[in-house]
Amino acid sequence: MIASLLCLGILKPVDALVSPDGTGRLPAMGWNSWNEYACDISEDVFVRVADLMVDLGLKDLGYQYVNIDDCWGVKGTTRDNVTQRIIPNPVKFPGGIRHVADEMHARGLKLGIYGDAGTQTCGGYPGSLGYEEVDAAAWSEWGVDYLKYDNCNIPQEWVDVPYMYPDNGGSPDGDVPPGYDWSASNSSARYNRMRDALLTQNRTIQYSLCIWGHANVAAWGNATGHSWRMYSDIYPAWAGARQGSQALMPILNQAAFYWNVSGFWGRNDWDMLEVGNGDLTLEENRSHFALWAALKSPLIIGTKLDAIRPEILAVLKAGEIIAFNQDPVYGAGAVPYRWDRVGNDTHPADYWAGSSSRGVHAFLLNTEEEERDTELVFAEIPGLQEQQPAVRPGPYLVHDMWTGEDIGVFSDSVVLRVKRHDTAAVRVTTADGQHPSPQWLLR
Ligand code: GLA
Repeated sequence: MIASLLCLGILKPVDALVSPDGTGRLPAMGWNSWNEYACDISEDVFVRVADLMVDLGLKDLGYQYVNIDDCWGVKGTTRDNVTQRIIPNPVKFPGGIRHVADEMHARGLKLGIYGDAGTQTCGGYPGSLGYEEVDAAAWSEWGVDYLKYDNCNIPQEWVDVPYMYPDNGGSPDGDVPPGYDWSASNSSARYNRMRDALLTQNRTIQYSLCIWGHANVAAWGNATGHSWRMYSDIYPAWAGARQGSQALMPILNQAAFYWNVSGFWGRNDWDMLEVGNGDLTLEENRSHFALWAALKSPLIIGTKLDAIRPEILAVLKAGEIIAFNQDPVYGAGAVPYRWDRVGNDTHPADYWAGSSSRGVHAFLLNTEEEERDTELVFAEIPGLQEQQPAVRPGPYLVHDMWTGEDIGVFSDSVVLRVKRHDTAAVRVTTADGQHPSPQWLLR
C-alpha cells in the first residue's frame, strides 16, 4: 500500500484552474464557522468575526475570507417557488446573504458560502446537484467570493463504483480496473458542473472542493478547483479517530503520501484549522499550524475569535510561518525527508523541508510523549545535497521562524530541543543570508 501511495506522491496534475486577479494562486486564508459554531450561525456571528479579524490584525496578515459553512438555508430541499433559488434562513440571515457580503466587503474582507454536490448538504439543507446554474448565479449576485462544495447525499445514478478510499484504508486504485481514469468519474463530473457554472458568472469565486480524498481527487482536482479536501473531517485532538473524523496526526500521516501534489493554483486541503479548539496544548497548536502551512494547505481559522487566548492568536499570527505558506515564488509544499517510522497514524513523518524566497526551511515535529533533542542534519535535506543544481555549500545560518531570531551558524548539523508534540520551524540560508539552494522545488 505504501509503495502505491508513494507513487501517487509524484503525481502533479496539469491544466490548473487559473482565475483572474490571482484568485486561488496561493492557499486561501480566512475563517470558517463549522469547527466551532456548527449550525449555530447567524449574520451576527459573521459580522462580529469580520470586526475581530480586522481588530486583531488577522486581516493585515492575509486572512481575508469569512466563510459561512453548512446550515444557512432552510432544512430539506426547499427552494424559492419562482426563482428556484435556495432561501437563506430568515431568522439567521434576516438581511439575506447579500447583506452579509456587503458587511464583509465594507471591511475589505470577502465572503465564502457552502454548497453540496448532491441533493442535500451534509446537515440536510438544499443541495445544488441539478441547480448548479441557479445557485452559482445567486451566489454571484449576492457578492459571494468563495465556495466550499461538499459531497453528501449523492443520488444513486451519480454514485461511482463502490469506492471507499481513503476512509477504509486501501488504495486509490483498489476498487477500479487498472488504468481507470478518475477524471472521467461521476464525482469529477459533479464538481465540474459547478466549476463551469461558476465560470459563466461575472464574478470570480474561489472554488474549494470538499470531497474528502474520494474518487482520487488528487489526480483531477487541479483542473476543477483551487483546493480539494483530501481526507475525513478534522477534530481537535492530537491522535486517534472519532466517528469518522480524524485527529491531527492521522491527517498528517495521510498528507505525507501526497506531498508532491500541491502547487500554485491548486492544492490539497487537509481541512480547516482546529488551532485554539478542544484541549490541544500550545505545542500541539503550534505543530498543527506550522505543518498545515508547510503542506500549503489553506489556512482557514476554525476557532471563536471572541476572547481568543493571546498565545493562540500569536500562533495564528506567526508571520514567518504564514510567509512560507504564501510564498509567491515557490509553490510546492514541504517534503517529508526523514521518517522515524513510516505510515504510522500516531507517529507520521517527522522531518519536513521546503523552499521559499527566503531560503530552505525545515519543520521538525516531535511526536513523542517527552521533550527531545532533534538533529537537523543539513546533508539529509534533499535540497541541500551536493547533486542538487546550484546548491551553495555551508556553513549555514539557522533562523528560528517562531521567534524571528537567528540560532547560529553551523557546518553540518544543529541539535534543537523540541518539546512534546511541538514543531521546530527554522530557515536555513548561507552564512551571509543567501538562499542555499535556489533551484530546489522551483517549478
Ligand atoms: C462535511 C464537511 C465538513 C462540514 C460539514 C457540514 O462533513 O466535510 O467540513 O462542512 O459537512 O455539515
